[in-house]
Amino acid sequence: MSFPTHRPRRLRRSEALRGLVRETGLSASSLVYPLFVCPGSGVKDEIRSMPGNFRWSTDLLVEECRQVAGLGVPAVILFGIPEHKDDVGSGAYAADGIVQRAVRAVKSALPDLVVICDVCLDEYTSHGHCGLIVNGEVDNDSTLELLARTAVTQVQAGADIVAPSDMMDGRVGRIRAELDASGFTQTPILAYSAKYASGFYGPFREAADSAPKFGDRKSYQMDPANQREALREIALDIEEGADIIMVKPALAYLDVIAAARREFDVPIAAYQVSGEFSMIEAAARNGWIDRERIIMETLVSIRRAGADIILTYFAKDVARMPRG
Ligand code: PBG
Repeated sequence: MSFPTHRPRRLRRSEALRGLVRETGLSASSLVYPLFVCPGSGVKDEIRSMPGNFRWSTDLLVEECRQVAGLGVPAVILFGIPEHKDDVGSGAYAADGIVQRAVRAVKSALPDLVVICDVCLDEYTSHGHCGLIVNGEVDNDSTLELLARTAVTQVQAGADIVAPSDMMDGRVGRIRAELDASGFTQTPILAYSAKYASGFYGPFREAADSAPKFGDRKSYQMDPANQREALREIALDIEEGADIIMVKPALAYLDVIAAARREFDVPIAAYQVSGEFSMIEAAARNGWIDRERIIMETLVSIRRAGADIILTYFAKDVARMPRG
């Protein structure tokens, strides 16, 4: 039986009714705010390709984190811009590396803020790749030790969660083993499991000056055409000990989030990446779209697809918006 017995519009007649039957919610408590930290003090350097986002020196980063926490955003993820880059990305795993120093400062000022550290070499290598270069290729196995060292030094500095984003095979297992061997059995791993070789990272690479100097990332990041392969990547990461898995980017990969939600019981994160942010910001600045509506609509769609946690440069904006 259909119309006129069934009239879906009956439940859309007022905001209160719509609220009662709303299927998906979005609140600041499921958001993670990405932040960039750089050397020096008193530095707040706006990222040209990501207006409203900055490279912060540690002292000002702490103040920014205080504001983020005060708004009710429970977590931040930190990316470092080191003093020097080299072939082997040593800034990533130095005990006094830029991120390690930042974590110490943030956690001592704000012990309740969840600090996540991105585990990857690309911001620290002179060639801009996420692993060591051997015979002109990004070498998988020799990179694992450096990633594990990076994670351990980040946790020693106080990181609550480590998030490997490099896409080397076997890195979750290796990081889990090294964390456990170092006594950090309680530290969760948020694995960037289905990370695609995406044009949407463009603005981030300008922010972190991490564009590869030769070639591209297609030998380790996933082909945008593949969904089944994402499920396989996720299954492998869960087997290796991932506590939370991630799909990245978000908006162009909602089907991948939805498939992962059907297939797996672990918490799922999605990363609304720099290009997704900058496109919305640019269109809004031109007056072509309603910024707040589009922020909410995109984030709700990512939740509707099945993400529990969203990493987004709009986290503070959402926290400031009236609920509804
Ligand atoms: C790698 C990393 C990248 C992003 C997060 N972690 C860049 C890349 O893979 O090129 C991109 C995040 C964004 O675009 O917002 N360390």
